[in-house]
Amino acid sequence: MKFSKINGLRGQVVVPGDKSISHRSVMFGSIAKGTTEIHNYLKGADCLSTISCFQKMGISIEQKGDTVLVHGNGLHGLKRPDSVLDCGNSGTTTRLISGILAAQDFDVTLTGDDSIQKRPMKRIIEPLSLMGADIVSVKDNGCAPLKIIGKPLHGIHYTSKVASAQVKSSILLAGLYAKGETRVTEPCLSRNHSEIMLKLFGAEVRTEGSTAILQPARELYGNEIHVPGDISSAAFFICAGLIAPNSEILIKNVGINPTRDGILTVCKAMGADLSIVKEDREKGEPTADILVRTSKLHGTTIDGPLIPALIDELPVIAAMACFAEGKTVIKDAAELKVKESNRLRVMVDGLTAMGAHVIETEDGMIIHGGKPLCGAVIDSRLDHRIAMTFAILGLCAEGETKVLHGECVNISYPEFYEDLRRLS
Ligand code: S3P
Repeated sequence: MKFSKINGLRGQVVVPGDKSISHRSVMFGSIAKGTTEIHNYLKGADCLSTISCFQKMGISIEQKGDTVLVHGNGLHGLKRPDSVLDCGNSGTTTRLISGILAAQDFDVTLTGDDSIQKRPMKRIIEPLSLMGADIVSVKDNGCAPLKIIGKPLHGIHYTSKVASAQVKSSILLAGLYAKGETRVTEPCLSRNHSEIMLKLFGAEVRTEGSTAILQPARELYGNEIHVPGDISSAAFFICAGLIAPNSEILIKNVGINPTRDGILTVCKAMGADLSIVKEDREKGEPTADILVRTSKLHGTTIDGPLIPALIDELPVIAAMACFAEGKTVIKDAAELKVKESNRLRVMVDGLTAMGAHVIETEDGMIIHGGKPLCGAVIDSRLDHRIAMTFAILGLCAEGETKVLHGECVNISYPEFYEDLRRLS
């Protein structure tokens, strides 16, 4: 994919459904009783992996345009799959499904692509094992493939070293089947979509500070879910609209759950012309239209509890910081090293190749903004968010930028390039 400098991005965009919420709606719908009707389900490869895993376990799932119907078989209605479950590139599928599988009365093997087979799974193997689960990393390297032999589980109070919604949700899902209460305490609160949706499906779950507390469930009940637009996908247009000259973009129906909206806080701290136009706080997950205009930005510091609220947006935030006057410091973000790629290294290398002044640190980076960028050849490393970040930068840099393996955007945003083209 090739990109060159444009003279502004203007218009409206409706980003696809939230990836985290889409995954959860199919997972919870599959183990609920009755039908779950999901509107605006994300048809990205990751969420299709989740659908296919549950279909392999006997769940009937119909796709009708933008709507997905999940005919759940109840909490104990999954069947042993005939073959290995393939989670593709999806960490959320792998980690959350493990919590469910740990409690079934069958055994199963989970795997995924090269990237998934390198991502850390000890973070779920350890707490699930403490609950009584039998999970083996087949290659004994703490990664997938994972062999999971279902066992009776008991609740625990787990204190997690990382603020990770995937770890928290995996434990909570196992906790649905466990004997006694399950508690997960995180260093700071990670995204709470599981807690919100589990409650909607009838589970008894509450939050005290950064601790999620769940009681075992007798049954979950199917529901109607309206998936909001994904703020992590909106992030590319937010940043593009702020840094590309002569731009004005209205991004419609974006999920602004406070555990996800860190990018809005950062943009405002950097002096962005960003406004929330139409807010809807009626439903479980708040949404809004977001209007951005070209802005004169300045550097900021991004750290602490803000990090989990924008973890997936850090690549494009780092890109935006190259256009801000002064220094932007990103710290407490070591988790970026274990995403679909080592996003810390890949971003520092790519930004440097484009002429930015960036220094990698142990848990983040320091960006000295204001230096004009020039086009370069960037290997996305098959990481969707890296590909989209450098596509945006290619529109703002002098010369031509080539993004290798740009098609990997289909993981979370299959229509990304079309939507981008429509605005330019
Ligand atoms: C996700 C949680 C985050 C995020 C990922 C989706 C989720 O991962 O990076 O894209 O849906 O729970 P961690 O929980 O590992 O931080």
